[in-house]
Amino acid sequence: LQATEPVNILLVDDQPAKLLSFEVILGELGENLIKAASAQEALAQLLRHEIAVVLIDVQMPDLDGFELAAMIREHPRFRDVALIFVSAIHLSDLDRIRGYEAGGVDYVPVPVVPEVLRAKVRVFADLRRKTRELERLNAELEQRVAERTADLEASRAALQELNSELEARIDQRTREREQALAQLFEAQKVDTIGKLTGGVAHDFNNLLMAMLGSLELLKKRMVGDASAQRLIDNALKGAERGAALTQRLLAFARRQQLRPEPINVAELVGGMRDLIARSVGPSIDIAEDFGSPLAPVLADANQLELALMNLALNARDAMPDGGTLTISAQEAMVEGGSDLGLAPGRYIRLSVADTGVGMDEATRARAAEPFFTTKGTGKGTGLGLSMVHGLAAQSGGSLRIESRLGEGTRIDLFLPKAERSRARRIRDSAQTTFDLAGRAVILLVDDDALVSDGTAAMLEDLGHEVIEASSAAAALSLLDASPDVDLVITDYAMPGMTGIEFAKLVRDRYPTLPIVLATGYAELPPGLGEGLDLPRLSKPFLQRDLANIIARQRRPADQAEAGRLKTSAC
Ligand SMILES: Nc1ncnc2c1ncn2[C@@H]1O[C@H](COP(=O)(O)OP(=O)(O)OP(=O)(O)O)[C@@H](O)[C@H]1O
Ligand SMILES: [Mg+2]
Repeated sequence: LQATEPVNILLVDDQPAKLLSFEVILGELGENLIKAASAQEALAQLLRHEIAVVLIDVQMPDLDGFELAAMIREHPRFRDVALIFVSAIHLSDLDRIRGYEAGGVDYVPVPVVPEVLRAKVRVFADLRRKTRELERLNAELEQRVAERTADLEASRAALQELNSELEARIDQRTREREQALAQLFEAQKVDTIGKLTGGVAHDFNNLLMAMLGSLELLKKRMVGDASAQRLIDNALKGAERGAALTQRLLAFARRQQLRPEPINVAELVGGMRDLIARSVGPSIDIAEDFGSPLAPVLADANQLELALMNLALNARDAMPDGGTLTISAQEAMVEGGSDLGLAPGRYIRLSVADTGVGMDEATRARAAEPFFTTKGTGKGTGLGLSMVHGLAAQSGGSLRIESRLGEGTRIDLFLPKAERSRARRIRDSAQTTFDLAGRAVILLVDDDALVSDGTAAMLEDLGHEVIEASSAAAALSLLDASPDVDLVITDYAMPGMTGIEFAKLVRDRYPTLPIVLATGYAELPPGLGEGLDLPRLSKPFLQRDLANIIARQRRPADQAEAGRLKTSAC
Protein backbone atom coordinates (compact mmCIF):
# COMPACT_ATOMS: atom_id res chain seq x y z
CA LEU A 1 0.00 0.00 0.00
CA GLN A 2 1.66 3.15 -1.21
CA ALA A 3 1.32 6.52 0.49
CA THR A 4 -1.11 7.66 -2.21
CA GLU A 5 -3.04 4.44 -2.66
CA PRO A 6 -6.67 4.57 -1.52
CA VAL A 7 -7.75 2.55 1.51
CA ASN A 8 -11.07 0.72 2.00
CA ILE A 9 -13.72 2.39 4.10
CA LEU A 10 -16.75 0.40 5.15
CA LEU A 11 -20.01 2.31 5.66
CA VAL A 12 -22.56 0.46 7.81
CA ASP A 13 -26.13 1.75 8.04
CA ASP A 14 -29.57 0.16 7.64
CA GLN A 15 -30.96 3.20 5.92
CA PRO A 16 -29.94 3.38 2.26
CA ALA A 17 -30.51 7.13 2.26
CA LYS A 18 -28.02 7.66 5.00
CA LEU A 19 -25.51 5.33 3.32
CA LEU A 20 -25.90 7.39 0.20
CA SER A 21 -25.33 10.63 2.07
CA PHE A 22 -22.13 9.23 3.69
CA GLU A 23 -21.02 8.17 0.27
CA VAL A 24 -21.52 11.64 -1.05
CA ILE A 25 -19.78 13.32 1.86
CA LEU A 26 -16.76 10.97 1.76
CA GLY A 27 -16.61 10.63 -2.02
CA GLU A 28 -14.18 13.50 -2.40
CA LEU A 29 -11.60 11.78 -0.13
CA GLY A 30 -10.77 9.49 -3.07
CA GLU A 31 -10.86 6.32 -0.93
CA ASN A 32 -12.73 3.10 -1.76
CA LEU A 33 -16.13 3.17 -0.17
CA ILE A 34 -17.82 -0.13 0.60
CA LYS A 35 -21.40 -0.19 1.86
CA ALA A 36 -23.13 -2.59 4.20
CA ALA A 37 -26.77 -2.39 5.16
CA SER A 38 -26.55 -4.73 8.13
CA ALA A 39 -24.12 -6.04 10.69
CA GLN A 40 -23.87 -9.40 8.87
CA GLU A 41 -23.13 -7.71 5.62
CA ALA A 42 -20.55 -5.56 7.39
CA LEU A 43 -18.78 -8.65 8.82
CA ALA A 44 -18.86 -10.31 5.43
CA GLN A 45 -17.22 -7.26 3.83
CA LEU A 46 -14.63 -7.08 6.59
CA LEU A 47 -13.66 -10.66 5.89
CA ARG A 48 -13.51 -10.03 2.16
CA HIS A 49 -11.50 -6.76 2.15
CA GLU A 50 -8.79 -5.18 4.12
CA ILE A 51 -10.76 -2.38 5.76
CA ALA A 52 -9.07 0.67 7.28
CA VAL A 53 -12.06 2.49 8.72
CA VAL A 54 -15.60 1.32 9.59
CA LEU A 55 -18.32 3.89 9.91
CA ILE A 56 -21.08 2.41 12.07
CA ASP A 57 -24.61 3.53 12.67
CA VAL A 58 -25.13 2.84 16.33
CA GLN A 59 -28.76 1.75 15.98
CA MET A 60 -29.65 -0.90 13.50
CA PRO A 61 -32.65 -3.22 13.67
CA ASP A 62 -31.00 -6.61 14.15
CA LEU A 63 -27.76 -5.55 15.82
CA ASP A 64 -26.78 -2.40 17.50
CA GLY A 65 -23.59 -0.61 16.47
CA PHE A 66 -21.81 -1.30 19.74
CA GLU A 67 -22.38 -5.02 19.44
CA LEU A 68 -21.01 -5.00 15.89
CA ALA A 69 -17.99 -3.04 17.20
CA ALA A 70 -17.46 -5.60 19.95
CA MET A 71 -17.61 -8.46 17.42
CA ILE A 72 -15.15 -6.71 15.17
CA ARG A 73 -12.73 -6.10 18.02
CA GLU A 74 -12.91 -9.71 19.15
CA HIS A 75 -11.53 -10.84 15.86
CA PRO A 76 -7.72 -10.57 16.02
CA ARG A 77 -7.50 -9.75 12.36
CA PHE A 78 -9.55 -6.57 12.84
CA ARG A 79 -7.79 -5.27 15.92
CA ASP A 80 -6.38 -2.21 14.22
CA VAL A 81 -9.41 -1.32 12.15
CA ALA A 82 -10.53 2.20 13.11
CA LEU A 83 -14.19 2.46 14.18
CA ILE A 84 -16.22 5.61 13.94
CA PHE A 85 -19.72 5.64 15.39
CA VAL A 86 -22.50 7.71 13.92
CA SER A 87 -25.46 8.24 16.18
CA ALA A 88 -28.72 10.06 15.49
CA ILE A 89 -29.86 10.07 19.05
CA HIS A 90 -28.19 12.20 21.56
CA LEU A 91 -25.61 10.11 23.35
CA SER A 92 -25.10 10.22 27.03
CA ASP A 93 -21.59 10.12 28.42
CA LEU A 94 -22.21 6.53 29.39
CA ASP A 95 -22.89 5.55 25.80
CA ARG A 96 -19.80 7.35 24.72
CA ILE A 97 -17.73 5.28 27.17
CA ARG A 98 -19.50 2.15 26.03
CA GLY A 99 -18.44 2.96 22.52
CA TYR A 100 -14.78 3.26 23.55
CA GLU A 101 -14.98 0.07 25.57
CA ALA A 102 -16.16 -1.75 22.52
CA GLY A 103 -13.06 -0.56 20.86
CA GLY A 104 -14.51 2.40 19.06
CA VAL A 105 -12.26 5.21 18.28
CA ASP A 106 -14.43 8.16 17.54
CA TYR A 107 -17.95 9.57 17.48
CA VAL A 108 -19.75 11.60 14.92
CA PRO A 109 -23.04 13.02 16.07
CA VAL A 110 -26.06 13.46 13.84
CA PRO A 111 -26.71 15.72 12.18
CA VAL A 112 -23.43 14.95 10.55
CA VAL A 113 -21.29 17.96 9.72
CA PRO A 114 -19.69 16.81 6.44
CA GLU A 115 -16.34 18.55 7.11
CA VAL A 116 -16.10 16.92 10.56
CA LEU A 117 -16.90 13.45 9.18
CA ARG A 118 -14.42 13.85 6.30
CA ALA A 119 -11.73 15.16 8.65
CA LYS A 120 -12.12 12.24 11.04
CA VAL A 121 -12.20 9.58 8.29
CA ARG A 122 -9.20 11.19 6.54
CA VAL A 123 -7.16 11.06 9.77
CA PHE A 124 -7.72 7.32 10.10
CA ALA A 125 -7.27 6.58 6.43
CA ASP A 126 -3.94 8.42 6.50
CA LEU A 127 -3.02 6.67 9.70
CA ARG A 128 -3.64 3.32 8.03
CA ARG A 129 -1.58 4.32 5.01
CA LYS A 130 1.27 5.48 7.27
CA THR A 131 1.07 2.32 9.34
CA ARG A 132 1.19 0.22 6.16
CA GLU A 133 4.11 2.22 4.89
CA LEU A 134 5.92 1.75 8.18
CA GLU A 135 5.19 -1.95 8.11
CA ARG A 136 6.46 -2.13 4.56
CA LEU A 137 9.63 -0.26 5.47
CA ASN A 138 10.05 -2.45 8.44
CA ALA A 139 9.69 -5.60 6.39
CA GLU A 140 12.12 -4.22 3.86
CA LEU A 141 14.55 -3.43 6.63
CA GLU A 142 14.17 -6.90 8.04
CA GLN A 143 14.71 -8.32 4.60
CA ARG A 144 17.86 -6.27 4.25
CA VAL A 145 19.02 -7.23 7.71
CA ALA A 146 18.37 -10.87 6.81
CA GLU A 147 20.33 -10.42 3.59
CA ARG A 148 23.22 -8.77 5.37
CA THR A 149 23.14 -11.46 8.03
CA ALA A 150 23.27 -14.09 5.31
CA ASP A 151 26.15 -12.22 3.63
CA LEU A 152 27.99 -11.98 6.93
CA GLU A 153 27.37 -15.64 7.60
CA ALA A 154 28.69 -16.51 4.17
CA SER A 155 31.84 -14.43 4.61
CA ARG A 156 32.32 -15.80 8.10
CA ALA A 157 32.11 -19.33 6.69
CA ALA A 158 34.53 -18.38 3.91
CA LEU A 159 36.87 -16.89 6.47
CA GLN A 160 36.64 -19.99 8.58
CA GLU A 161 37.42 -22.16 5.57
CA LEU A 162 40.36 -19.93 4.70
CA ASN A 163 41.49 -20.10 8.25
CA SER A 164 41.45 -23.88 8.42
CA GLU A 165 43.16 -24.00 5.01
CA LEU A 166 45.83 -21.71 6.39
CA GLU A 167 46.16 -23.84 9.48
CA ALA A 168 46.50 -26.94 7.35
CA ARG A 169 49.19 -25.22 5.29
CA ILE A 170 51.02 -24.09 8.39
CA ASP A 171 50.85 -27.66 9.70
CA GLN A 172 52.15 -28.94 6.39
CA ARG A 173 55.01 -26.42 6.31
CA THR A 174 55.87 -27.17 9.92
CA ARG A 175 56.00 -30.87 9.13
CA GLU A 176 58.16 -30.22 6.07
CA ARG A 177 60.47 -28.03 8.11
CA GLU A 178 60.76 -30.62 10.83
CA GLN A 179 61.49 -33.29 8.24
CA ALA A 180 64.11 -31.09 6.60
CA LEU A 181 65.68 -30.38 9.97
CA ALA A 182 65.70 -34.07 10.83
CA GLN A 183 67.32 -34.84 7.46
CA LEU A 184 69.84 -32.08 7.98
CA PHE A 185 70.61 -33.37 11.44
CA GLU A 186 71.03 -36.89 10.07
CA ALA A 187 73.28 -35.61 7.28
CA GLN A 188 75.38 -33.59 9.72
CA LYS A 189 75.67 -36.56 12.03
CA VAL A 190 76.81 -38.82 9.21
CA ASP A 191 79.15 -36.10 8.02
CA THR A 192 80.69 -35.73 11.47
CA ILE A 193 81.09 -39.47 11.92
CA GLY A 194 82.54 -39.55 8.39
CA LYS A 195 85.13 -36.89 9.17
CA LEU A 196 86.05 -38.60 12.40
CA THR A 197 86.34 -42.10 10.97
CA GLY A 198 88.05 -40.74 7.86
CA GLY A 199 90.68 -39.01 9.96
CA VAL A 200 91.24 -42.00 12.21
CA ALA A 201 91.37 -44.37 9.25
CA HIS A 202 93.87 -42.17 7.46
CA ASP A 203 96.25 -42.19 10.41
CA PHE A 204 95.80 -45.90 10.89
CA ASN A 205 96.52 -46.41 7.23
CA ASN A 206 99.91 -44.77 7.62
CA LEU A 207 100.71 -46.90 10.65
CA LEU A 208 99.65 -50.06 8.84
CA MET A 209 101.77 -48.99 5.90
CA ALA A 210 104.84 -48.87 8.06
CA MET A 211 104.00 -52.22 9.63
CA LEU A 212 103.26 -53.98 6.35
CA GLY A 213 106.38 -52.62 4.70
CA SER A 214 108.65 -53.57 7.55
CA LEU A 215 107.06 -57.00 7.99
CA GLU A 216 107.45 -57.79 4.30
CA LEU A 217 111.13 -56.91 4.36
CA LEU A 218 111.61 -58.77 7.62
CA LYS A 219 109.99 -61.84 6.09
CA LYS A 220 112.51 -61.77 3.24
CA ARG A 221 115.39 -61.53 5.63
CA MET A 222 114.19 -64.37 7.84
CA VAL A 223 113.93 -66.96 5.09
CA GLY A 224 114.76 -70.32 6.59
CA ASP A 225 113.48 -69.55 10.08
CA ALA A 226 110.10 -71.31 10.03
CA SER A 227 108.82 -70.15 13.38
CA ALA A 228 109.77 -66.53 12.65
CA GLN A 229 108.02 -66.85 9.26
CA ARG A 230 104.85 -68.04 11.02
CA LEU A 231 104.94 -65.14 13.42
CA ILE A 232 105.55 -62.65 10.62
CA ASP A 233 102.74 -64.18 8.52
CA ASN A 234 100.45 -63.83 11.48
CA ALA A 235 101.41 -60.19 11.98
CA LEU A 236 101.02 -59.57 8.23
CA LYS A 237 97.54 -61.11 8.26
CA GLY A 238 96.57 -58.92 11.18
CA ALA A 239 97.90 -55.82 9.47
CA GLU A 240 96.15 -56.74 6.22
CA ARG A 241 92.88 -57.21 8.04
CA GLY A 242 93.42 -53.85 9.67
CA ALA A 243 94.03 -52.39 6.24
CA ALA A 244 90.82 -53.92 4.92
CA LEU A 245 88.98 -52.39 7.86
CA THR A 246 90.43 -48.95 7.27
CA GLN A 247 89.43 -49.29 3.61
CA ARG A 248 85.81 -49.81 4.67
CA LEU A 249 86.06 -46.83 6.97
CA LEU A 250 87.52 -44.71 4.21
CA ALA A 251 84.80 -45.93 1.88
CA PHE A 252 82.15 -44.86 4.34
CA ALA A 253 83.87 -41.51 4.79
CA ARG A 254 83.84 -41.17 0.99
CA ARG A 255 87.55 -40.71 1.06
CA GLN A 256 88.81 -43.77 -0.69
CA GLN A 257 90.69 -43.50 -3.85
CA LEU A 258 88.30 -44.54 -6.60
CA ARG A 259 89.16 -45.44 -10.14
CA PRO A 260 85.85 -44.87 -11.90
CA GLU A 261 85.45 -46.59 -15.23
CA PRO A 262 82.47 -47.56 -17.37
CA ILE A 263 81.14 -50.86 -16.09
CA ASN A 264 78.61 -53.23 -17.57
CA VAL A 265 76.88 -54.34 -14.36
CA ALA A 266 75.45 -57.53 -15.87
CA GLU A 267 78.98 -58.61 -16.82
CA LEU A 268 80.35 -57.59 -13.45
CA VAL A 269 77.70 -59.63 -11.64
CA GLY A 270 78.26 -62.52 -14.06
CA GLY A 271 81.91 -62.54 -13.13
CA MET A 272 81.08 -62.76 -9.44
CA ARG A 273 78.35 -65.37 -9.73
CA ASP A 274 80.40 -68.32 -8.47
CA LEU A 275 81.96 -66.33 -5.69
CA ILE A 276 78.57 -65.14 -4.48
CA ALA A 277 77.08 -68.63 -4.73
CA ARG A 278 79.92 -70.06 -2.68
CA SER A 279 79.64 -67.28 -0.11
CA VAL A 280 75.89 -67.54 0.48
CA GLY A 281 75.76 -71.34 0.47
CA PRO A 282 73.49 -73.89 -1.21
CA SER A 283 70.32 -73.12 0.75
CA ILE A 284 69.95 -69.79 -1.03
CA ASP A 285 68.79 -69.53 -4.63
CA ILE A 286 70.32 -66.78 -6.69
CA ALA A 287 68.25 -65.04 -9.35
CA GLU A 288 69.38 -62.37 -11.78
CA ASP A 289 67.32 -59.93 -13.75
CA PHE A 290 69.04 -57.48 -16.04
CA GLY A 291 66.27 -57.18 -18.64
CA SER A 292 67.18 -55.30 -21.77
CA PRO A 293 70.78 -54.26 -22.41
CA LEU A 294 71.79 -51.56 -19.97
CA ALA A 295 74.00 -48.52 -20.36
CA PRO A 296 77.28 -48.85 -18.48
CA VAL A 297 77.64 -47.19 -15.08
CA LEU A 298 80.59 -45.09 -14.01
CA ALA A 299 82.12 -46.61 -10.90
CA ASP A 300 85.14 -48.30 -9.44
CA ALA A 301 84.83 -51.96 -10.46
CA ASN A 302 86.71 -53.40 -7.49
CA GLN A 303 84.76 -51.34 -5.00
CA LEU A 304 81.46 -52.13 -6.69
CA GLU A 305 82.27 -55.85 -6.47
CA LEU A 306 83.07 -55.37 -2.82
CA ALA A 307 79.79 -53.55 -2.27
CA LEU A 308 77.81 -56.33 -3.98
CA MET A 309 79.63 -58.89 -1.87
CA ASN A 310 78.70 -57.00 1.30
CA LEU A 311 75.07 -56.85 0.23
CA ALA A 312 75.06 -60.56 -0.64
CA LEU A 313 76.53 -61.44 2.76
CA ASN A 314 73.93 -59.30 4.53
CA ALA A 315 71.24 -61.12 2.54
CA ARG A 316 72.74 -64.46 3.51
CA ASP A 317 72.71 -63.48 7.19
CA ALA A 318 69.07 -62.43 6.84
CA MET A 319 68.08 -65.84 5.41
CA PRO A 320 69.37 -68.45 7.88
CA ASP A 321 66.74 -70.92 6.65
CA GLY A 322 67.36 -70.25 2.98
CA GLY A 323 65.49 -68.16 0.48
CA THR A 324 66.11 -66.24 -2.72
CA LEU A 325 68.69 -63.59 -3.43
CA THR A 326 67.82 -61.50 -6.46
CA ILE A 327 70.29 -59.21 -8.15
CA SER A 328 68.76 -56.96 -10.75
CA ALA A 329 69.44 -53.74 -12.57
CA GLN A 330 67.42 -51.36 -14.63
CA GLU A 331 67.47 -47.83 -15.84
CA ALA A 332 65.83 -45.39 -13.42
CA MET A 333 64.63 -41.86 -13.96
CA VAL A 334 65.24 -39.74 -10.88
CA GLU A 335 62.98 -36.71 -10.57
CA GLY A 336 63.95 -33.47 -8.92
CA GLY A 337 63.20 -33.30 -5.20
CA SER A 338 63.34 -37.07 -4.67
CA ASP A 339 64.52 -38.14 -1.22
CA LEU A 340 67.53 -39.83 -2.79
CA GLY A 341 69.46 -36.57 -2.71
CA LEU A 342 70.39 -37.01 -6.36
CA ALA A 343 70.50 -34.53 -9.19
CA PRO A 344 67.57 -35.28 -11.50
CA GLY A 345 68.49 -37.50 -14.41
CA ARG A 346 68.90 -41.04 -15.63
CA TYR A 347 70.66 -43.54 -13.41
CA ILE A 348 71.15 -47.27 -13.27
CA ARG A 349 69.47 -48.87 -10.31
CA LEU A 350 71.33 -51.95 -9.13
CA SER A 351 69.25 -53.88 -6.60
CA VAL A 352 70.01 -56.71 -4.23
CA ALA A 353 66.85 -58.19 -2.73
CA ASP A 354 66.33 -61.02 -0.30
CA THR A 355 63.39 -62.91 1.16
CA GLY A 356 64.84 -62.83 4.65
CA VAL A 357 63.88 -61.58 8.06
CA GLY A 358 63.74 -57.92 7.05
CA MET A 359 64.20 -54.93 9.33
CA ASP A 360 61.93 -52.91 11.51
CA GLU A 361 61.82 -49.16 10.86
CA ALA A 362 64.33 -48.30 13.60
CA THR A 363 66.89 -50.76 12.26
CA ARG A 364 66.28 -49.70 8.66
CA ALA A 365 66.83 -46.05 9.56
CA ARG A 366 70.18 -46.78 11.18
CA ALA A 367 71.41 -49.67 9.04
CA ALA A 368 73.86 -47.57 7.00
CA GLU A 369 75.37 -45.91 10.06
CA PRO A 370 78.95 -46.98 10.64
CA PHE A 371 79.37 -49.54 13.42
CA PHE A 372 75.62 -50.15 13.60
CA THR A 373 75.10 -53.88 13.72
CA THR A 374 72.53 -56.23 15.18
CA LYS A 375 74.80 -59.24 14.73
CA GLY A 376 76.44 -59.17 18.11
CA THR A 377 80.04 -58.49 19.08
CA GLY A 378 82.63 -60.28 17.05
CA LYS A 379 80.13 -61.17 14.32
CA GLY A 380 79.51 -57.93 12.46
CA THR A 381 81.49 -54.70 12.30
CA GLY A 382 78.50 -52.69 11.15
CA LEU A 383 80.59 -51.27 8.35
CA GLY A 384 79.17 -53.23 5.40
CA LEU A 385 76.28 -50.97 4.49
CA SER A 386 78.26 -47.88 5.53
CA MET A 387 80.86 -48.81 2.95
CA VAL A 388 78.21 -49.37 0.28
CA HIS A 389 76.57 -46.08 1.19
CA GLY A 390 79.88 -44.21 1.06
CA LEU A 391 80.80 -45.78 -2.25
CA ALA A 392 77.43 -44.87 -3.78
CA ALA A 393 77.73 -41.27 -2.56
CA GLN A 394 81.34 -40.88 -3.64
CA SER A 395 80.45 -42.26 -7.06
CA GLY A 396 77.77 -39.61 -7.52
CA GLY A 397 74.96 -42.02 -6.72
CA SER A 398 72.83 -42.94 -3.75
CA LEU A 399 71.71 -45.84 -1.59
CA ARG A 400 68.14 -46.75 -0.70
CA ILE A 401 67.06 -49.37 1.78
CA GLU A 402 63.58 -50.82 1.64
CA SER A 403 62.63 -53.46 4.11
CA ARG A 404 59.71 -54.96 5.93
CA LEU A 405 59.99 -57.11 8.98
CA GLY A 406 59.40 -60.75 8.11
CA GLU A 407 59.15 -60.05 4.38
CA GLY A 408 62.61 -59.22 3.20
CA THR A 409 64.85 -56.40 2.13
CA ARG A 410 65.77 -54.65 -1.07
CA ILE A 411 68.84 -52.47 -1.31
CA ASP A 412 68.95 -50.14 -4.30
CA LEU A 413 72.21 -48.65 -5.49
CA PHE A 414 71.66 -45.73 -7.83
CA LEU A 415 74.73 -45.20 -9.95
CA PRO A 416 75.38 -42.56 -12.62
CA LYS A 417 75.48 -43.68 -16.23
CA ALA A 418 78.88 -43.48 -17.86
CA GLU A 419 79.11 -40.76 -20.45
CA ARG A 420 81.23 -41.49 -23.48
CA SER A 421 83.55 -38.51 -23.18
CA ARG A 422 84.14 -39.26 -19.51
CA ALA A 423 84.82 -42.90 -20.26
CA ARG A 424 87.45 -42.06 -22.85
CA ARG A 425 89.20 -39.61 -20.59
CA ILE A 426 89.57 -42.26 -17.98
CA ARG A 427 91.06 -44.67 -20.47
CA ASP A 428 93.47 -41.96 -21.62
CA SER A 429 94.74 -41.26 -18.13
CA ALA A 430 97.95 -42.76 -16.71
CA GLN A 431 99.63 -41.08 -19.58
CA THR A 432 103.23 -40.64 -18.63
CA THR A 433 105.58 -42.74 -20.70
CA PHE A 434 109.08 -43.13 -19.60
CA ASP A 435 111.85 -45.46 -20.35
CA LEU A 436 113.40 -46.50 -17.15
CA ALA A 437 115.89 -49.33 -17.19
CA GLY A 438 116.97 -51.35 -14.22
CA ARG A 439 117.98 -49.37 -11.22
CA ALA A 440 116.28 -45.98 -10.80
CA VAL A 441 116.93 -42.94 -8.69
CA ILE A 442 113.70 -42.18 -6.86
CA LEU A 443 112.87 -39.03 -4.98
CA LEU A 444 110.51 -39.94 -2.15
CA VAL A 445 108.53 -37.09 -0.57
CA ASP A 446 106.59 -37.75 2.65
CA ASP A 447 106.30 -35.77 5.86
CA ASP A 448 105.70 -38.90 7.91
CA ALA A 449 109.14 -40.36 8.75
CA LEU A 450 107.65 -43.75 9.65
CA VAL A 451 106.02 -44.11 6.23
CA SER A 452 108.97 -42.61 4.42
CA ASP A 453 111.48 -44.96 6.00
CA GLY A 454 109.30 -48.00 5.36
CA THR A 455 108.80 -47.08 1.70
CA ALA A 456 112.47 -46.26 1.24
CA ALA A 457 113.40 -49.68 2.64
CA MET A 458 111.00 -51.38 0.19
CA LEU A 459 112.37 -49.37 -2.74
CA GLU A 460 115.96 -50.07 -1.83
CA ASP A 461 115.09 -53.74 -1.45
CA LEU A 462 113.81 -53.56 -5.04
CA GLY A 463 117.25 -52.32 -6.02
CA HIS A 464 116.53 -48.62 -6.43
CA GLU A 465 118.35 -45.65 -5.04
CA VAL A 466 116.19 -43.47 -2.81
CA ILE A 467 116.47 -39.79 -1.95
CA GLU A 468 114.13 -38.87 0.90
CA ALA A 469 112.57 -35.45 1.39
CA SER A 470 110.31 -34.57 4.30
CA SER A 471 108.57 -31.65 2.57
CA ALA A 472 107.72 -30.43 -0.91
CA ALA A 473 110.05 -27.44 -0.55
CA ALA A 474 112.97 -29.67 0.42
CA ALA A 475 112.16 -31.97 -2.49
CA LEU A 476 112.23 -29.08 -4.98
CA SER A 477 115.70 -27.97 -3.94
CA LEU A 478 116.88 -31.59 -3.96
CA LEU A 479 115.55 -31.96 -7.50
CA ASP A 480 117.40 -28.85 -8.64
CA ALA A 481 120.57 -30.23 -7.10
CA SER A 482 120.24 -33.80 -8.47
CA PRO A 483 119.23 -33.75 -12.11
CA ASP A 484 119.57 -37.55 -12.38
CA VAL A 485 116.31 -38.34 -10.52
CA ASP A 486 114.24 -40.81 -12.62
CA LEU A 487 110.97 -40.83 -10.70
CA VAL A 488 109.20 -38.89 -7.97
CA ILE A 489 106.86 -40.55 -5.46
CA THR A 490 105.05 -38.00 -3.35
CA ASP A 491 102.54 -38.11 -0.52
CA TYR A 492 99.46 -35.96 -0.97
CA ALA A 493 98.64 -34.55 2.46
CA MET A 494 101.64 -32.58 3.63
CA PRO A 495 101.89 -29.36 5.57
CA GLY A 496 102.96 -26.31 3.57
CA MET A 497 102.39 -27.64 0.08
CA THR A 498 100.18 -30.54 -1.02
CA GLY A 499 101.46 -33.30 -3.25
CA ILE A 500 99.38 -31.93 -6.13
CA GLU A 501 100.78 -28.42 -5.83
CA PHE A 502 104.23 -29.89 -5.66
CA ALA A 503 103.57 -32.12 -8.68
CA LYS A 504 102.42 -29.10 -10.70
CA LEU A 505 105.67 -27.26 -9.99
CA VAL A 506 107.70 -30.36 -10.87
CA ARG A 507 105.71 -30.87 -14.07
CA ASP A 508 106.42 -27.24 -15.05
CA ARG A 509 110.14 -27.55 -14.49
CA TYR A 510 110.69 -31.16 -15.59
CA PRO A 511 107.87 -32.05 -17.98
CA THR A 512 109.10 -35.59 -18.68
CA LEU A 513 109.79 -36.63 -15.10
CA PRO A 514 107.22 -39.21 -13.99
CA ILE A 515 105.42 -38.48 -10.72
CA VAL A 516 103.43 -40.98 -8.65
CA LEU A 517 100.95 -39.74 -6.05
CA ALA A 518 100.61 -41.83 -2.92
CA THR A 519 97.43 -41.17 -0.98
CA GLY A 520 95.61 -42.76 1.86
CA TYR A 521 92.33 -41.45 0.60
CA ALA A 522 90.79 -39.32 -2.06
CA GLU A 523 91.40 -36.03 -0.35
CA LEU A 524 91.70 -34.39 -3.70
CA PRO A 525 88.95 -31.94 -4.51
CA PRO A 526 87.19 -33.30 -7.60
CA GLY A 527 88.75 -31.98 -10.79
CA LEU A 528 91.92 -30.88 -9.08
CA GLY A 529 94.94 -32.82 -10.17
CA GLU A 530 93.07 -34.60 -12.91
CA GLY A 531 94.79 -32.50 -15.53
CA LEU A 532 98.11 -33.85 -14.35
CA ASP A 533 97.06 -37.47 -14.92
CA LEU A 534 99.12 -38.68 -12.01
CA PRO A 535 99.24 -42.41 -11.42
CA ARG A 536 98.14 -43.08 -7.87
CA LEU A 537 99.38 -45.46 -5.29
CA SER A 538 96.82 -46.41 -2.67
CA LYS A 539 98.02 -46.51 0.91
CA PRO A 540 98.67 -48.93 2.46
CA PHE A 541 100.62 -50.54 -0.37
CA LEU A 542 102.80 -53.57 -0.51
CA GLN A 543 106.19 -53.88 -2.07
CA ARG A 544 104.72 -55.49 -5.18
CA ASP A 545 102.37 -52.52 -5.62
CA LEU A 546 105.40 -50.27 -5.63
CA ALA A 547 107.17 -52.54 -8.09
CA ASN A 548 104.07 -52.57 -10.34
CA ILE A 549 103.64 -48.85 -10.46
CA ILE A 550 107.31 -48.28 -11.16
CA ALA A 551 107.15 -50.89 -13.91
CA ARG A 552 104.13 -49.08 -15.31
CA GLN A 553 106.19 -45.96 -15.73
CA ARG A 554 108.49 -47.88 -18.06
CA ARG A 555 105.67 -49.10 -20.26
CA PRO A 556 103.86 -47.30 -23.06
CA ALA A 557 100.54 -45.83 -21.94
CA ASP A 558 98.28 -48.28 -23.79
CA GLN A 559 99.62 -51.20 -21.83
CA ALA A 560 99.45 -49.40 -18.54
CA GLU A 561 95.88 -50.45 -17.88
CA ALA A 562 96.71 -54.11 -17.76
CA GLY A 563 98.14 -53.86 -14.26
CA ARG A 564 95.39 -52.59 -12.08
CA LEU A 565 96.66 -51.73 -8.65
CA LYS A 566 95.74 -53.80 -5.73
CA THR A 567 92.74 -52.49 -3.88
CA SER A 568 92.17 -54.12 -0.59
CA ALA A 569 89.16 -56.33 -0.02
CA CYS A 570 87.43 -57.31 3.17
N1 LIG B 1 69.50 -57.76 3.98
C1 LIG B 1 69.28 -57.46 5.26
N2 LIG B 1 68.22 -57.98 5.93
C2 LIG B 1 67.99 -57.66 7.22
N3 LIG B 1 68.75 -56.81 7.94
C3 LIG B 1 69.83 -56.27 7.34
C4 LIG B 1 70.14 -56.55 5.98
N4 LIG B 1 71.25 -55.84 5.66
C5 LIG B 1 71.60 -55.15 6.76
N5 LIG B 1 70.77 -55.42 7.78
C6 LIG B 1 70.80 -54.84 9.13
O1 LIG B 1 71.66 -53.71 9.11
C7 LIG B 1 72.74 -53.88 10.02
C8 LIG B 1 73.97 -53.22 9.47
O2 LIG B 1 74.44 -53.90 8.32
P1 LIG B 1 75.95 -53.78 7.92
O3 LIG B 1 76.16 -54.59 6.69
O4 LIG B 1 76.31 -52.35 7.87
O5 LIG B 1 76.70 -54.40 9.13
P2 LIG B 1 76.73 -55.94 9.58
O6 LIG B 1 76.28 -56.80 8.47
O7 LIG B 1 76.01 -56.04 10.87
O8 LIG B 1 78.28 -56.13 9.82
P3 LIG B 1 79.37 -56.44 8.69
O9 LIG B 1 78.80 -56.02 7.41
O10 LIG B 1 80.55 -55.65 9.09
O11 LIG B 1 79.58 -57.90 8.77
C9 LIG B 1 72.84 -55.38 10.19
O12 LIG B 1 73.42 -55.71 11.44
C10 LIG B 1 71.38 -55.80 10.11
O13 LIG B 1 70.71 -55.57 11.32
MG1 LIG C 1 77.09 -56.59 6.54
